[in-house]
Amino acid sequence: MLKIDRRTLLFGGAAIVGVTTLMSKPGDRSGPRDPYFLDVQKALADANIASPTLVIDRARLNTNIDTLVGHLPDGMGYRIVAKSLPSLSLIAHIRARAGTDRLMTFNQPMLSALSEAMPEASQLLGKPLPVQAARNYFDGLSEADSAAADNVQWLIDSGDRLQQYSDLAAGLDRTLRINLELDVGLHRGGFEPGADLQSALEAIRTDTNLKFAGFMGYEPHIPALPTTLGWRDKALKGAWNIYQKSLAQAADVFGGDSVRNLTRNAAGSPTYRYYEDTEIANEISAGSCLVKPTHFDSELLEPHLPASFIATPVIKSLPTTRMPGLEFADGAKRAWDPNYNKTVFIYGGHWLADPVDPPGLEYNSTFGRSSNQEMLNGGPDLDIKADEFVFFRPHQSEAVFLQFGDIAVYEDGKIVDTWPVFEASA
Ligand SMILES: Cc1ncc(COP(=O)(O)O)c(C=O)c1O
Repeated sequence: MLKIDRRTLLFGGAAIVGVTTLMSKPGDRSGPRDPYFLDVQKALADANIASPTLVIDRARLNTNIDTLVGHLPDGMGYRIVAKSLPSLSLIAHIRARAGTDRLMTFNQPMLSALSEAMPEASQLLGKPLPVQAARNYFDGLSEADSAAADNVQWLIDSGDRLQQYSDLAAGLDRTLRINLELDVGLHRGGFEPGADLQSALEAIRTDTNLKFAGFMGYEPHIPALPTTLGWRDKALKGAWNIYQKSLAQAADVFGGDSVRNLTRNAAGSPTYRYYEDTEIANEISAGSCLVKPTHFDSELLEPHLPASFIATPVIKSLPTTRMPGLEFADGAKRAWDPNYNKTVFIYGGHWLADPVDPPGLEYNSTFGRSSNQEMLNGGPDLDIKADEFVFFRPHQSEAVFLQFGDIAVYEDGKIVDTWPVFEASA
């Protein structure tokens, strides 16, 4: 839906005429298209694709999988973050190439779908689910898939939730595997070493329907902290200290040997490279870095390649940019900002994504966003015709990948496969 707001237009007009004079003149960012994207564009056209499409470059994906596996120290397990790679075919491909049976799952629909498709895989919940969602999972579980539930580790963040899951396990008359969420500094909930953790560990030990499976401690805040005065290092040491103390408490309750073989999960894409041995964590989870949306353009993830793009046809390619009701200011705006010269209206839009090819394309905040035909502006060298493709990099893969239907798999100049995505779920 396109919503042109009157106030936005008025302020936009005022800004065009007046405020721009206070800013430094923008340089022209338009230029020739990247041959890489021209090749993908040809592949899409050859495959008769003519609507907004999520493209994964399989060669780049494979490079990213190998990069991740290559970074892992001896004995470190890899858990695939399903919500960031939300397609059974994509997950199956990564499982095979990375040689892992571990998945991290974040909602009941995906948990159910994965239990059905990959019953042998281990699934660790990445967030604690309301007990009713767990009950719904068991209600929907077929007799044939029942064993898959034994491979699920339910994430528990509080004593109250542990009690609810204990009641569920008793009602189902089955053993539930419990993983305790640790607050290692993110402060998104979970246990810290101390009395509450002790009670939870004791409660699991004495409950015949519960089995202690391990800990999960996630610390994505750490790379966001400044390095000044050792701030970041201190936060990382603090996180590991919390983890170590929690392991010591678990060893007191369950015995040292049993703790060594627990699931000791940590990390995510931004932090997996911090783990250079298995002293604290014995597995890391990561997903996004394998397709590398823009939010994962960080120093640590520099060796990972952008491997996912939104491609969408141009509906209209116009030689000048004209603003409704503000035509009087178009000339001044064009003279001021060369990147405002030309306009394309694309098929769809308003995604969590940035245009990357042709170069220099920008959203027009005065015209507004549109999910139907979004306006993009470009400079004098913008060279794209109707039906050719504009490429975007998504900000994130989670949720965004679910918006386009089947993923188009690109390799060696061709669309070689299509990978269905999970049904939309939150
Ligand atoms: C608990 C947990 N672990 C790991 C991840 C990492 O996922 P990704 O690698 O896709 O950032 C997330 C992401 O939200 C998470 O919540």
